This record gives sequence, structure tokens and C-alpha cells, in this order.
Amino acid sequence: MWTSLILCAMSLGMVKVEEDPNKSVGQWLRSCLKEQVGLKVTLILVGRGNNTSLVNRPLPPWICFEILNMRYFAKIGNALYLQMVKMATSDYVVLNTGQKMPLIGLGTWKNPPDEVKDAIYNALKIGYHHIDCAAVYNNEASIGEAFKQYVGADKLVRREDLFVTSKLWNTKHHPEDVEAACCKSLEDLQLTYLDLYLIHWPHAFERGDNPFPKNPDETVRYGSIDYKETWKVMEELVRKGLVKAIGLSNFNSRQIDDVISAAAIKPAVLQVECHPYLVQNELIAHCRKHGLAVTAYSPLGSPDRFWKDPDEPLLLQDANIKTLADKHGKSPAQIMLRWQVQRGVVAIPKSVNAGRIAQNLQVFDFTLTEDEMKIIGTLNRNWRYLVPKIKIGGKFVPRDAEHPDYPFNDPY
Ligand SMILES: NC(=O)c1ccc[n+]([C@@H]2O[C@H](COP(=O)([O-])OP(=O)(O)OC[C@H]3O[C@@H](n4cnc5c(N)ncnc54)[C@H](OP(=O)(O)O)[C@@H]3O)[C@@H](O)[C@H]2O)c1
Repeated sequence: MWTSLILCAMSLGMVKVEEDPNKSVGQWLRSCLKEQVGLKVTLILVGRGNNTSLVNRPLPPWICFEILNMRYFAKIGNALYLQMVKMATSDYVVLNTGQKMPLIGLGTWKNPPDEVKDAIYNALKIGYHHIDCAAVYNNEASIGEAFKQYVGADKLVRREDLFVTSKLWNTKHHPEDVEAACCKSLEDLQLTYLDLYLIHWPHAFERGDNPFPKNPDETVRYGSIDYKETWKVMEELVRKGLVKAIGLSNFNSRQIDDVISAAAIKPAVLQVECHPYLVQNELIAHCRKHGLAVTAYSPLGSPDRFWKDPDEPLLLQDANIKTLADKHGKSPAQIMLRWQVQRGVVAIPKSVNAGRIAQNLQVFDFTLTEDEMKIIGTLNRNWRYLVPKIKIGGKFVPRDAEHPDYPFNDPY
């Protein structure tokens, strides 16, 4: 019986690990998993045991432990059989470059430099394989320290298993500035390549190192570079191997078409605001028609924005979402993220809290019914939280809306 069980286990892709009586259970599992499958593991033991002995040391009789992507299957003799299980982040979209982009990533905007390192650690150790960055978030150097410490062979995640995005800021659209800006992000992030580099916004600001060049009346000083000129140099970055894919952020459908009409390398991704109050169905359909994957930013409604309006609707407190959350035994955030990934949209929730970082990845163990997906779709009110604003005379007023390349004057 044991032989057939072992053969069955092997045929299911199990890994056999022999015990080492000279090591503690934790040391032993860590070292043999590292040896066998190249994983540096964090061991999570859950369960109640009656101290059944595994050779000389206690282990729960029915285990319930998961080690990154390994799950305990059986103990036979002095060996454990571990099954490779599907990792949450193995759910991905395939880009037009062939790259796999994990459906959930960690957002890093508003993540202070002194907290972002912990956030990255907490994300990587539980299986995040996708981090969304940008030069203008002013924290890429801290993220780079985290990458140096936790990314690489023998570390929490191998570089080739991590998907890192960064973005070209509005003051760097001039063709002569693009490569230097990309190299600065690479240097700060301590990486040799980016998986994806996006033009952050279609409209340019005045060139220079001040990310928000201002007039005396506090309005922004704009630039007039055509984003198609910027795109040509973005293509060069791919050819030089500095980035694997290039894409757009905050472009509308007309601007996407405009870039495609002049592109030798088509954009792989559009990153835009998207959540149940801004479902973006037309824009998503447009992107899919042209081979772009869509990433939803502010998928939880960005409640920690500094220009938040006290009267704005709070997505995380939506009664319909709350009802679905109670029904599934999940949080409202998980319902909204599940809705996105279930319709094939990548989502990049930001959190600095270890519990919420973990929660936001746990959206692959339940399914919303077709009716529930539709209910969430009907919550749309074309509500944009991310209309950039500036403070003039003590009041927040919309910024950029007069710029000819401002994207949100078109219907989608
Ligand atoms: N391309 C662009 O122009 C653009 C624009 C905006 C954002 N983005 C990207 O998208 C990312 C996400 O967007 P966002 O930061 O605007 O907002 P978001 O992810 O919609 O919301 C973040 C807020 O939600 C809270 N939160 C996180 N998980 C939660 C949970 N499970 N339950 C309850 N609250 C939760 C966070 O608080 P805690 O941190 O305290 O958990 C934070 O206050 C950004 O960080 C950035 O990487 C890109």
C-alpha cells in the first residue's frame, strides 16, 4: 500500500524530503527544501498535535503547514511528501511580450521611505511577486534596499520570479531625459532591468529635477513634448535591455491609439484608476482589442490620498460590497480585488500593514458568482478619486485639466 501511495504521490508532482535527526524540525525542513527545490523558506506551522513523534521530535499528526508553495501531503517512514501547490501569485496575465504579470501586486505610493522596506519584506515573504513603483513616489531608494536584502538566489524570491514596474515622471518626457530617468530608477531600485516601464501621465511638465515645477501662483509649469516622441525612446530602453516591457499610465483610448499608430513596439500594459465606482469597461475592452493588459490602480479607492475630499463616497464602506464580504467571509477589500482578478484585471493595492498586505493576496481561494460579478459592475458611478489637485489659496483645485494632453476630458 505504501509503495502505491508513494508512486501516486510522485506522479502528482510530490517532492520527497528525508529527515535529518541532527537538526530541529524547522532547520531540517528549511535546509532540505532549499536543497531540493531551491527555496529559502519561512515555516508556518498551524494545527493541533498530540506530539506524535516524527523520528525523535514532535510534529502534529495531521499537519497543516504550508511553506511558501509547498503543502504537506504525507509522512511515510522517515520521509515527508510535499506537494507543490499553486501559489496565489501564479495567477497572472500574459503580456504581449510573453511575460507573466502576477494579478496582484503591492502598490507603493504614499508608502514612506522608512516604512516601505518592511512592507516589501512582508509582501515578498508571503508570496507577492509583483511590486509597483514610480520615481515620483520618492521611495525607490528604500525599495532598492529591500530588493538588495530579499531578492536573489538564496533569498526570499529570485529576481526572475519578481515583476517590478516603475514609471517615467512628467518632467522627464524629453527624449534626452528618458534613459537617464530610467537608469536612475534602476540605480535606486538596485536592479539591472525593469519588467515594465510606464509613461506615468500623457502630459509633460517643464523639464528639470523639480518634479512639480511651479509658477508664482502655485500652478504647474507645463512642457509640450509629444508623448509619441517620448515613446520612441521608451522603445530604445527595450532594445538596450534596460526594461522588458513598456506601457502607458493614465492615457485615454484616443491617446493609446495615437501611440500605437506610431509605435514599433506596442505598449504592453495600461495602468489606470479602476474599482467598482469606476469600472472602466469601455477602456478595458479597448485595451484588450489592442493587446494591452490592464492594471487597476487605487483598487480600494485610495482612502489615504492627501487631497481627499471629506464628502467623497468611501468605497471600502460600500453597503453592497459589505454584504458580499459577509456572505463570503472575506473583507470588502478582498471582494473588490477578487472582482478585478476574476475579470482578468491586475490590481496593485497599497498597504503598509502586514495583516492587510497578506489579506490582499488572499483572493484566490474563493470565487464570485456571475450574478455577484454583475452586482459589483452595477456600482459604477464613473467616480474618479485620482484627479490630481493642488492647493491654491488654502483650497484644493484640479491641476492639469487645461493641458492639451490631459487625459480625463475624453469619455474614456
Ligand atoms: N499610475 C498612477 O498614476 C497611479 C496612481 C495612483 C496609484 N498608483 C499605484 O496604485 C497603488 C494603489 O493605489 P493607492 O495607493 O492610490 O490606493 P489603494 O490601494 O486603493 O488604497 C490604499 C489604502 O487602502 C488601505 N488598505 C490597504 N489594504 C486594505 C485592506 N485590506 N482593508 C482596508 N484598507 C486597506 C491602505 O491603508 P494601509 O496602508 O494602512 O493598509 C491605504 O490607506 C499605489 O500605491 C501605486 O503603486 C498608480
